[in-house]
Amino acid sequence: MKRLDNIGFIGAGKVGFTLGKYFIKHGAGLSGYYSKNASSAKDAAEFTGSRQYGRLEELVASSDVLFLTVPDNSIRLVWDELLACGVNLSGKLICHASGSLSSEIFNEADQCEVTALSLHPLFAISDKYRSFEQLHKAVFTIEGEPGEWRDTMRNFIEGCGNTVELIAAKDKPLYHAAAVVASNFLVGLSYLSSSLLEYCGFSEESAKRALLPLMEGSLKNVISQGTIAALTGPVERNDCETVRKHIRALSEMEKNKVEQAGVKEEPVLNSQEAVLLYQSMTRLLMEIGHSKHKETDYRLMEDIVKLRT
Ligand SMILES: NC(=O)c1ccc[n+]([C@@H]2O[C@H](COP(=O)([O-])OP(=O)(O)OC[C@H]3O[C@@H](n4cnc5c(N)ncnc54)[C@H](OP(=O)(O)O)[C@@H]3O)[C@@H](O)[C@H]2O)c1
Repeated sequence: MKRLDNIGFIGAGKVGFTLGKYFIKHGAGLSGYYSKNASSAKDAAEFTGSRQYGRLEELVASSDVLFLTVPDNSIRLVWDELLACGVNLSGKLICHASGSLSSEIFNEADQCEVTALSLHPLFAISDKYRSFEQLHKAVFTIEGEPGEWRDTMRNFIEGCGNTVELIAAKDKPLYHAAAVVASNFLVGLSYLSSSLLEYCGFSEESAKRALLPLMEGSLKNVISQGTIAALTGPVERNDCETVRKHIRALSEMEKNKVEQAGVKEEPVLNSQEAVLLYQSMTRLLMEIGHSKHKETDYRLMEDIVKLRT
C-alpha cells in the first residue's frame, strides 16, 4: 500500500479546503496548497496547518499526490502546466474531483508514469470552512487506473467511514447527470411548485412553509420504502380527471394572470413549458405506477399526457 503523507492541492477553493481538512482529520498528511491567488493558498494552508506554495514546481516536488481542485474547465490547463513545469512526475498520483470528467483528461499520464484518477464526493460543498464537518455523509466515486494508488485511495476513503463506488470513465457523464437530476432538478421542481403556490396567493415564506413537510415526507418515504412504494397521488390512483384538470389549469395560467388583477409575480415558467414538464413527469410516474399496479389500465392517462405537436 502507498502512503498518503504528502498530498498537495492545486486550487484552494471550496473542495480544496474541504478535502484537505477532511484528509488531515483522518490521518493523511498534506504538503500544502498552490492557487491562482496567493491569498487563497495562504488561507487554506492556515486552515489545514500545512504550507502555502508560491510556485507550482515547488508544490509538485514536495508532493506524492496532487489534487487538481480547480474548476472543471481549468483542469486540462493546469495539467498542461504540470507537464511543462519540468518536475519529474514519475510514481506520483494525480487526481481531480470533477463529477463529469474522467481521468482521461490527464493525457500522457502513462508516458510520465503517473497514476491518474478522478475522485468525486457526491456532495454539495458550499462552505470552505464548514463543509468538511458533513463530508462523512457523502458517497465517493473513484474512476481511473487500477493498481496500488487506487487501492490506497479507496481504503483511505472507506477508512474515513465513507462508501466508495468504482465507476468507468465512459459512465462519468451519465453518472453526473444522475447527480444533477437528484440535486439541481429538485431545486428546480421546488422553485416551480413554490411559484405556483405564489400564483395562488401564497407569500414566498408561506409557500416554503407549506412545501417543506411535503417534500421532506416524500424524501423520507423514498429512503425508507424505496421509490416504487413511495409513490402516492393522482397518477398512482389513475385519477385521469384530476390530471386533466391540472393540465388545463397550467395551460390557462398565463391567460388568467392577464385577466385577474392583483397577481404580482409572473409564473416561473410560461404555460406551455409548465404543461410539457407536467406531462413528462407524469409519464415517468406512470412507469412507476405501472410497476406498482400491473393490473391498472393507464391508456386514458397516457392519452391525456401525450405530447401533441
Ligand atoms: N463544490 C462542489 O459542490 C463540488 C462537489 C464535488 C466536486 N466538485 C469539483 O471540485 C472541483 C473544484 O470545485 P470548487 O467548488 O472547489 O470550485 P471553487 O470553489 O471555484 O474553487 C476553485 C479554485 O481553483 C483555483 N483556480 C482556478 N484556476 C486556477 C489555476 N489555473 N491554477 C490554480 N488555481 C486555480 C481558484 O483559486 P483562487 O481562489 O486562487 O482564484 C479557486 O479557488 C471542480 O472540479 C468541481 O467540479 C465540486
